[in-house]
Amino acid sequence: MGNNDDWYKGSRRVFIFPRLGVVIKIARFYPLVGLWRFLYSVQDKQFLYFLKLPVDILGSYWNVWIKGLRDNWMEFADYLLYRNPFTQPCYFSLFGLINVQKIGRMVTEEEGEKWDLWGQFFDLTDRECYYYDNHHFVNPANFCLENGKLRIVDYGSPATRQVVKKWGVILHEKVRVDI
Ligand SMILES: Nc1ncnc2c1ncn2[C@@H]1O[C@H](COP(=O)(O)OP(=O)(O)OP(=O)(O)O)[C@@H](O)[C@H]1O
Ligand SMILES: [Mg+2]
Repeated sequence: MGNNDDWYKGSRRVFIFPRLGVVIKIARFYPLVGLWRFLYSVQDKQFLYFLKLPVDILGSYWNVWIKGLRDNWMEFADYLLYRNPFTQPCYFSLFGLINVQKIGRMVTEEEGEKWDLWGQFFDLTDRECYYYDNHHFVNPANFCLENGKLRIVDYGSPATRQVVKKWGVILHEKVRVDI
């Protein structure tokens, strides 16, 4: 079963509270899908192979079991530890189950194209966003604006954190959103 199937609704459910200035991100779990994958892997004698597949690999059981939880927790820990200016502040996490993040003014698809965000990311990171995390950086729905500067709202995966850790300050300073 791939993650493009109808049942897949993302790794987290996001509720927006404009008056409070926050969003709440609730981890999603797909226990039955994970269980079927697990049972098929046992039947196909691929159990060990699947067991070792990382959380971010579509089709792994960890992906449907814990990705939302892991993403939530890592966004919280990462923001707490590094306070990278490119990351949208995460205020609180209940063990990754529920996160509270500052609300952002999201970038639209049209703006992403108009500002050539992907092209800017590509150049400013010396192509590393392309090598490590192209799916994520190519999607404007992962970014917001704060005082005329770009920030990322979805930064829980290891690949994203790797790019953000190395290039976040530069991206925050140099990405142009006024062109
Ligand atoms: N801080 C925020 N402020 C406003 N809207 C937000 C914020 N964080 C997330 N959203 C909204 O929720 C959507 C999904 O958020 P996010 O990408 O963080 O979650 P996700 O579970 O990783 O989703 P996906 O798997 O679709 O990438 C965003 O595209 C955006 O529309
Ligand atoms: Mg996202």
